[in-house]
Amino acid sequence: MTFFDSPLRLGVLASGRGSNFAAILDAIEADGLPATVVIVVSDRPDALALERARLHGIATAVVVPRDYPDRQAFDVAVVERLQTAGVQLVVLAGFMRLVTPAFLAAFPGQVLNIHPALLPSFPGLHAQRQAIEYGVRISGCTVHVVDEGVDTGPILLQRAVEVHDGDDEESLAARILVEEHKAYPEAIRRIATGEIRIPGLAPTPRQEHVA
Ligand code: GRF
Repeated sequence: MTFFDSPLRLGVLASGRGSNFAAILDAIEADGLPATVVIVVSDRPDALALERARLHGIATAVVVPRDYPDRQAFDVAVVERLQTAGVQLVVLAGFMRLVTPAFLAAFPGQVLNIHPALLPSFPGLHAQRQAIEYGVRISGCTVHVVDEGVDTGPILLQRAVEVHDGDDEESLAARILVEEHKAYPEAIRRIATGEIRIPGLAPTPRQEHVA
């Protein structure tokens, strides 16, 4: 079931390998996720995510922070790319920068992130290492709406994994990543079908009427 008139238009922001982006693409292409990735934007010209996008014929943009005087100017440039592409939902997928209030004002309630821990535990960098050092027996991943804090926005979906004796940051990260690749497409699916309603995205009036 689709909730919007046409597939939800996603803009992906990625700094690195883009395995979550790949999982989302896979869900679109193989599992009928009613969404389409209209652009991938990266702050790093060498991001593997860009390569993946090109292979799928998806538009890409590289916006490099050193070309801008400050974070806000950088964000304004990224927002401009996303708006020109007609993005409805922004998906942070391994994007290693915090977005500014100017960014959030342009996409209010329409920016998602995935974090490799069960928030509100272990926000910020090295979440898997934090979990191991604390000694938790369960960790996982969280898809949430981005607000002005660091990994603090409303939680949409979580998936848990066990922490094993002898786990290190790398082994735990790998086990969590498997769940991330299920969680992110599932969260987007729930938004695209109207099961989860997020403030910035309204259904088309006609469908709202029918419901
Ligand atoms: C993931 O672990 C995600 O939770 C975190 O950054 C990593 C990105 O991995 N925010 P990838 O680029 O999607 O492979």
